[in-house]
Amino acid sequence: MEETLIAIKNSALSIILDSTDKKSLEEIKLQFLGRNGRLTLAIKEISKLPQERRPEIGRLANEVKKAIEDTIESQESRIKNQELGTKKREIDVTAPAILPTIGHLHPTTIVLYEVIDIFKGLGFQVADGPEIESDYYNFEALNIPKHHPSRDTQQTLYLDTRNSKVVPGELILRTQTSAMQGRIMEKSKPPIRVIVPGKNFRYEQVDASHSFEFWQIEGFLLDKVVRITDLFGTIDYVLRRLMGEKIKIKFATTNFPFVEPGVDTYIECTVCNGRGCSFCKQSGWSEIMPAGMIHPNVLKAARYNPKEVSGFAFAIGLSRLVTLKYQMDDLRLLTNPDLRILEQF
Ligand code: DAH
Repeated sequence: MEETLIAIKNSALSIILDSTDKKSLEEIKLQFLGRNGRLTLAIKEISKLPQERRPEIGRLANEVKKAIEDTIESQESRIKNQELGTKKREIDVTAPAILPTIGHLHPTTIVLYEVIDIFKGLGFQVADGPEIESDYYNFEALNIPKHHPSRDTQQTLYLDTRNSKVVPGELILRTQTSAMQGRIMEKSKPPIRVIVPGKNFRYEQVDASHSFEFWQIEGFLLDKVVRITDLFGTIDYVLRRLMGEKIKIKFATTNFPFVEPGVDTYIECTVCNGRGCSFCKQSGWSEIMPAGMIHPNVLKAARYNPKEVSGFAFAIGLSRLVTLKYQMDDLRLLTNPDLRILEQF
């Protein structure tokens, strides 16, 4: 029995090592390890041996089996490598190259750069500010004292400062880039023309036109004498550059504690061309750019004399502008990681 097993092993290994393709290896496998394979049949014979011989012969049979399997495996990978090697030599050096996938700017960034360009053309500078903000700059300096009802609309996210020296409630995630008005005014002298692009955060229910994290481009202009017609002219110019000459624009009065008067700017909804859809809440108009004349209290907080200095402020809802510009009906598409969406820009 031992001789039979050894003979099987020797003949198997030599045929395996001589084989040059996958198909013949498969056949060899069957020939030895298949249901009627030589080794399988030999193993069946073991049960006919006297009881005391069986363990030893069984062990040998297992070794033979393992040797055959291992050799088949290594021969298989040798054949594979050889095939690859031959293929390599067949590379057609004249074939056109496969271009690597190249990334590109996110649609929000594309539109942001466009907005920055337009404002730079009007002499505005670009500033950046902290996303973790103090209650003072986000609210107090903007004429929104501690218990002002307009705070309710701001769905503020407070930082957990329990293990620090910070007064509870003093540090928040900024809810509006307007928070940069005070910071900039304190450090500069009019004339000032500045825009502040940045992210804001609110405890909002996410839907097609709201997000807990959204981009705004705050902007303001301060000079000796600034009129509301300067504000209207600026908004009109910027929106036509961005959305095309023909875009319909309308203004309505509104209230923000840091401006007086306050205006809401609407453009005709581009998703439905004014017919009314779920994105514009069936109104045909989309609110895009709240603005107003800077409130005297805001100027006073920054130690300006409201009799000597005046100005206007505005905020562009950038995330909304991007969706309107590309006629997307859902803000959430902008943060969806599906590349098939981003590849369209
Ligand atoms: N900061 C306001 C908000 O997010 C928007 C805003 C309104 C900004 C009027 C302004 C403005 O600069 O003049 O709710």
